[in-house]
Amino acid sequence: MLNNLFPKVRPRRLRKNKTIRDLVSETKLFKSKLIQPLFVSDSNSQKIEIEAMPGQYVHTKETLFKEVDELLNLGIKTIALFPNISKNLKDSNGTEALNPENFLCGLVSELKNKFPELILITDVALDPYTDSGHDGIIIGGEVDNDETLKSLESMSLNLAHSGSDIIAPSDMMDGRVGIIRKALEAENLKNTIILSYSAKYASNFYGPFRDAVGSKQTQGISKDSYQMDKRNLEEALKEARLDLNEGADILMVKPGMPYLDVIREISSNTDAPIFAYQVSGEYSMLQLGIDKKIFKHNVIPETLISLFRAGSSSVITYYAKWVAENYDDIS
Ligand code: PBG
Repeated sequence: MLNNLFPKVRPRRLRKNKTIRDLVSETKLFKSKLIQPLFVSDSNSQKIEIEAMPGQYVHTKETLFKEVDELLNLGIKTIALFPNISKNLKDSNGTEALNPENFLCGLVSELKNKFPELILITDVALDPYTDSGHDGIIIGGEVDNDETLKSLESMSLNLAHSGSDIIAPSDMMDGRVGIIRKALEAENLKNTIILSYSAKYASNFYGPFRDAVGSKQTQGISKDSYQMDKRNLEEALKEARLDLNEGADILMVKPGMPYLDVIREISSNTDAPIFAYQVSGEYSMLQLGIDKKIFKHNVIPETLISLFRAGSSSVITYYAKWVAENYDDIS
């Protein structure tokens, strides 16, 4: 039937040259929509390249400040900051997360003092602080939901009081967004934004991240008992609706490219902004392929565009800086 429309309709008319293609393009990459994740160690004396993520580093405090300065000059104004905490500060309950003067809280307030225009996202989950690498407290061989909530509540308050603009619960405990929102309101932190990792799948693509923050699991419990089942889409919508009802401002889908359908589903069915996280393993795949000359760098914008096309409002990507350095106008 469509054939009968030819030659009245010729889609190629709109692909004739770049100017025309730009006029009719539906999606565009802006660096103002990219967020750079950064890793920082509380104890290393120099920055260390992450083996599985060539070109990404675990920073020291000093190199982190330099990196943030460079990012701001390049127009990347938002970072997601992940600490690598010394082993001697880890324990089974992640107690150090509850210390309002811990390394990360101090760093957040120093960063905000030095760079007031920087937007800082910090993760709410216990994994940097537990010796198990789990996001919560283990009781009776399980990551206990309600006991963990108590810790997440005080961790959130610490991070918000330190100056995090956006706190991002990435733990996948039930009910955490509601508890955190209530606690923030009670302490008059009414402008702290909650970016909820709503659809965080139990993914095999987080491995390089866990190396970078030192949260590789050492115990037999799998994150499958709290992160989402890869086979489910409807459930992502359920999580998204719950989080919005509990007071989330922004929803996250994670990983990115293997879950484009999830981004589309949530963005079509809610009115909240969706952020996608192009995670560590996605970066490693691309970067190792580029380093081996299997692909060129032009695969990078292609993957990012796919996340925006699916309905993301912003993307957290280890390539944020690279994009800002290499493109003025990306389309
Ligand atoms: C911690 C957390 C993880 C990531 C972000 N926050 C790992 C995990 O859940 O084990 C992964 C990010 C990435 O792979 O880039 N809760």
